[in-house]
Amino acid sequence: MRKLLAALLFAPATLLAAGGQALDPAPIEPRDLVSLQAGARTFVNYCMNCHGAQYMRYNRLTDIGLTEAQIIDNLMFSADKVGETMKVAMSTKDGKAWFGVPPPDLSVIARSRGADWLYTYLRTFYRDEKSAHGWNNKVFPSVAMPHVLWKLQAEQSTVQYDTTARDLVNFLVYVGEPSGQSRKSIGIVVLFVLVVLFVFAYAMKKAFWKDVR
Ligand code: HEC
Repeated sequence: MRKLLAALLFAPATLLAAGGQALDPAPIEPRDLVSLQAGARTFVNYCMNCHGAQYMRYNRLTDIGLTEAQIIDNLMFSADKVGETMKVAMSTKDGKAWFGVPPPDLSVIARSRGADWLYTYLRTFYRDEKSAHGWNNKVFPSVAMPHVLWKLQAEQSTVQYDTTARDLVNFLVYVGEPSGQSRKSIGIVVLFVLVVLFVFAYAMKKAFWKDVR
């Protein structure tokens, strides 16, 4: 019953957010370092020509299990120093001139759009002759972004492409809150300490009040 209520409450909101298209739940796993690293690779290779992640520094990617040498060798094409932020090569002016809309920075896109939206967005581009660049999207009608992963999608099986999209979304979620995982583990430690303190405090209370009464 509760589930039904929740579904009734949330379905219209999700549908509205997606322009009528239902969103597929993104099967992301924030602790899966292999997936995060694959997502980082796809991001620098396919997205950073147009989009940056200006709140993210390259050397922070040691968070997802990469060494500085790996970051420099495999991920840094448009920066010289590992302490730089993931800035886009293209200027906002050029972006506006080329696409009509400047490609937005993607640092916090996972927080504004949500993982499910992103996962669905990346998997619902379709051919549309009426659009200037030949593509359209089911959750972002008349989008100014072409389907930049179309070659990859054509080469891969559906399962492989879904995995590519999942890894990329996993990475974007991480970029949106790089300390998310450590914040959660700190929270668990804090709760544990509180439980232990409670046990001691309770034992002490018992000991103090034993003879009173
Ligand atoms: C050729 C340039 C280009 C590339 C490469 C590119 N994008 Fe875009 N992207 C754009 C443009 C332009 C827009 C703005 C679309 C609009 O507002 O109509 C956009 C919009 C988006 C949006 C929607 C932002 C919003 O308004 O909510 C997302 C998400 C996005 N891109 C993700 C990606 C990802 C992930 C990649 C890499 C796989 C990528 N883009 C690669 C040009 C690009």
